[in-house]
Amino acid sequence: MKRFFSPTRLFWGNGSSDSLEGIFKERKIMVVIGRGSIKRNGKFNEMVAKLKKNNEVVFFEGINENPLISEVLKLREFIKKERVDVVVAIGGGSVLDCAKASVTVLNENNPEVSLKEKKVVENRNVVFVAIPTTCGTGSEVDQYALITDENGDKFSFFTENSFPDYAFLEPMLLDTLSFRWIAATAIDAFCHSLEGFFSIRSNDITENLAISSMENILEFLPIVSEKKEESFEKLLLASSLGGMVIAHTGTNLIHAFGYYLTKVKKVPHSFANSSLLPFYIEYLKEISEEKVDFFMGFLTPEDNPGEYIVDFLKKLNLPAHLKEVELKEEEFDDFFEYGFSKPNIGSFFKKVEKKEIYDRLKEWFSRER
Ligand SMILES: [Fe+2]
Repeated sequence: MKRFFSPTRLFWGNGSSDSLEGIFKERKIMVVIGRGSIKRNGKFNEMVAKLKKNNEVVFFEGINENPLISEVLKLREFIKKERVDVVVAIGGGSVLDCAKASVTVLNENNPEVSLKEKKVVENRNVVFVAIPTTCGTGSEVDQYALITDENGDKFSFFTENSFPDYAFLEPMLLDTLSFRWIAATAIDAFCHSLEGFFSIRSNDITENLAISSMENILEFLPIVSEKKEESFEKLLLASSLGGMVIAHTGTNLIHAFGYYLTKVKKVPHSFANSSLLPFYIEYLKEISEEKVDFFMGFLTPEDNPGEYIVDFLKKLNLPAHLKEVELKEEEFDDFFEYGFSKPNIGSFFKKVEKKEIYDRLKEWFSRER
């Protein structure tokens, strides 16, 4: 049996967040943001002003990158204390994930256990709105929240009830990000769609969404400076489509191996994935199957998809190799073991033999470039 479940009401395009005004009136709304850089964004200020017209608005500011369990619990306490009706999270993946987790465990008696065991018994009684300011995570339409535990390990919290109720994609919210970050987060979205496409859990719907998402990124990422607003909209949409894909498929090899780089080498998630993307394409290329042939043809009409993707990343000034994120020879085995221990490995559409992938990855890593 195959299924598709995407319960978030999604609105996109310039002005799409105007509908917030019609949806919420005379409510108490909490706006949750990160370290505050978004306050320099004109669209953000316009949105907040509109919310304030007919509602009482309170703020929770200061969600950090890679939110800890303690931050999720702190935000939860604040939401309870303020007795808000609606939580509007506006930010990158960390802000959306932290707010999503807090809202989902809002009424749990033991929220920490609920987070760790991914078990929620009570229904939440606040509406959760997610508005992304990066074009990578897809968190605005999926059920996942990446939280960091007391050992510094990340775990994914999710339940059937943790999808946002509403998501708004406002293109000009991307305008405060540097181009390099826009590119990096878009490549994270590309990896979501790519890994989703080659997942054991992919289906007809997720495959079509994945192709459409990757198409938008390949077409619009290189022309951001020429067609800003249109490109921002397409990249945000690509990211949401990627989110819908991984809501069903999860990720696999790129994300699994990328976790070590983030945990130990402190490489930001998107850059870690970018550095592994060319290997994934090369690894796929060796698998002779219609699905792979179709994908390679989609990626480039040329005969060298591996070089094509390296070139694409280089033009965006993004890492295209593990050495570009400073992984050292002597760290390789730890890096490999950590990545291979992740459950995502088992989601790749073909069985992955440990020795075979070790040899291939090592050879690629050691190759003269
Ligand atoms: Fe990701």
